[in-house]
Amino acid sequence: MEASLCFALLVFFPAFTSTVVLPQKRSAQGHGSDLEIYSFHVDCKVTSRFAHNVLTSRMANRANASREVTFDVELPKHAFISNFSMTIDGKTYVGVVKKKEEAKQQYDQAVSRGQSAGLVKVSGRKMEEFKVSVNIAALSKVTFELTYEELLKRHLGKYELAIKVRPQQLVKHFKIDAHIYEPQGISFLDAHATFLTNDLAETVKKTLTQDKAHVVFEPTLDQQRKCPECSESILDGEFIIKYDVKREASAGDIQIVNGYFVHYFAPTDLPRMRKNVVFVIDRSGSMYGKKMQQTREALLKILEDIHEDDHFGLITFDSEVSTWKSTLVQATPEMVQQAKTFVGRITDRGATDINAAVLKGVEMLKISKEERKLPERSVSIIILLTDGDPTSGVTNLEQIQSNIKKGIEGLYTLYCLGFGFDVNYNFLEKLALENGGVARRIYESSDSALQLQGFYEEVATPLLQQVELQYPGNGVSDLTENVFRHYYNGSEIVVAGRISKNDLEILSVQIKAGAASSDLTLAAETPVEEQDEAVKKHKYIFGEYIERLWAYLTIQQLLSKAVSAQPEEREALNEKALQLSLNYNFVTSLTSMVVTKPEEGQTDRTMVAHKPTEAEQGDRVDFSHHGGGFGVGAAGVPFGPGGPLGRPQGGGFGVGAAGVPFGPGGPLGRPQGGGFGVGAAGVPFGPGGPLGRPQGE
Ligand SMILES: *[C@@H]1O[C@H](CO)[C@@H](O)[C@H](O)[C@H]1NC(C)=O
Ligand SMILES: *[C@@H]1O[C@H](CO)[C@@H](O)[C@H](O)[C@H]1NC(C)=O
Ligand SMILES: *[C@@H]1O[C@H](CO)[C@@H](O)[C@H](O)[C@H]1NC(C)=O
Repeated sequence: MEASLCFALLVFFPAFTSTVVLPQKRSAQGHGSDLEIYSFHVDCKVTSRFAHNVLTSRMANRANASREVTFDVELPKHAFISNFSMTIDGKTYVGVVKKKEEAKQQYDQAVSRGQSAGLVKVSGRKMEEFKVSVNIAALSKVTFELTYEELLKRHLGKYELAIKVRPQQLVKHFKIDAHIYEPQGISFLDAHATFLTNDLAETVKKTLTQDKAHVVFEPTLDQQRKCPECSESILDGEFIIKYDVKREASAGDIQIVNGYFVHYFAPTDLPRMRKNVVFVIDRSGSMYGKKMQQTREALLKILEDIHEDDHFGLITFDSEVSTWKSTLVQATPEMVQQAKTFVGRITDRGATDINAAVLKGVEMLKISKEERKLPERSVSIIILLTDGDPTSGVTNLEQIQSNIKKGIEGLYTLYCLGFGFDVNYNFLEKLALENGGVARRIYESSDSALQLQGFYEEVATPLLQQVELQYPGNGVSDLTENVFRHYYNGSEIVVAGRISKNDLEILSVQIKAGAASSDLTLAAETPVEEQDEAVKKHKYIFGEYIERLWAYLTIQQLLSKAVSAQPEEREALNEKALQLSLNYNFVTSLTSMVVTKPEEGQTDRTMVAHKPTEAEQGDRVDFSHHGGGFGVGAAGVPFGPGGPLGRPQGGGFGVGAAGVPFGPGGPLGRPQGGGFGVGAAGVPFGPGGPLGRPQGE
């Protein structure tokens, strides 16, 4: 019996392997192989957290006939595109940034002519896809150049520069070249990529001196090959550079260039403040299955990490609201144990009453405070996790916002985590922003629990609250936000502004904040001239970086303020953000970039880049989501035979698994449009049936 089974396995094993379809030799994005990317350069210059990135791709049409050539890259969601050009036959066509409404007309006209005109799409958790296609005459070349800028944000003690790499063919001259200059000095530097093999990792050159870092990655054609003989590229994923800066002065670091200043404040040597946190957890029917399980998993882990002198409360809700205890309790080992038992029993059921649940959280904090259960100096936050729209109790969104704002009275901070794509992200964002917090999307994927924990980790260690940074009233103007509710360990407070007084010699700052055991006052003075000169000397500086940083930050803050402003105020905020976007050539949610290329004997070809917002993700399609051949690949398809799957074969192409640093599974989990390929993944056993069909029984 045993022998025959063994025999059967031997017989069938070859049949099994032969059904695994190896990826076909593919040409770039379904074009003919006569389209060659002969050079692809990523140039990053980071000056004091402000990153200026230029992607340049040179392509050639080696065919006798004209061909459609596609430039397809990704950039971080928080970045603003600030330039785009294409050079064809020695002629350069430069994108023009316009007010969004104006660009929309051109966009609509192009679409009505049957041209696909949209250039930017959301692509996964952290990235946006920029894609342009143009017709190139036979035997000619094109150069695409995209510039984008972003202020790197400090998260959990580091800055991260993420470069999406996916040339989709071997590239003769491929290079990532990143220069980082941090006047404060760089404390560590790390560069890695998901796709790097050990051999390839060794070719990444990193140099670090006191205040400068340089990272170069320049694989040869052969090093790009997935295997010695194949023409498939191994370059597929994110190349990530991480670093942090040294911090010596406790009042932070001020830099001044060309009449603008930026102040970075991120003290690390403070004791933690005690915190009171209420978790408000959705257990409505839609949380059924994996989401509920991952939420439990995350909560259990968070409970393990909760600091012993913190206080916490747990609320679960569907159409009913349940509390674990009626007030917050201190996170002693016994209490944490009890809470874990409670969490282990949370199961899904019923509808979604966000209003009652959050208000319950507020009430719990208030009662606990009244009963003097909470420490005098402590930070109080509410973390709401939900995966759907309110469907029970008060369901009018504005009413809920108003109720919660009234309830919280500015006393507590509300963070909203939207699980998946059935949430009304706009609503959650507004709710959070109105109450001093932020909203975050949790992507449905195998790592959802980690995402939840990651968020908690960011707010786990408050060091300061009510942080106020003051500069001389008659010397500076156009300040970005200078009052912050909290400062969490691992993050950073950034304030920028303009020096409005010509002869200002000293820029002074005074910082006031509530700390763990007392109120804190810090002061610092920076000589304006000297600083200016010292920083200017550096060759890495692209002149006016602080001014652009200031503009970037101002626009981001205006847009986020506009989310929760009253209509009239919103208009004013948006108008201001629009003017700045136009002045600095930034593609923001209020502007668009229009690229027009005259076509011989035809109407000009117009393409428009709109910036999608987080709320427009998922199936809430914005008007740039047109054009076929776009597939969000690999959704739910972990690694399988046949290499990286989710790589559509035929016309489309996939984004997704490739750019996802957190493991398999497409970020959006929803393939859009055509061109979705899974290769042999769905056929684990191949034809011939499962292995256990013994012959000669
Ligand atoms: C391309 O041009 C060459 C030489 O002019 C010619 O021999 C060949 O047939 C052409 N190929 C195609 C596909 O037109
Ligand atoms: C955009 O790029 C083009 C082509 O490289 C260049 O001529 C132009 O000056 C750039 N525009 C801006 C605003 O940087
Ligand atoms: C804050 O983070 C740093 C590391 O980034 C760590 O050394 C320090 O102990 C943390 N402070 C507290 C109070 O946890």
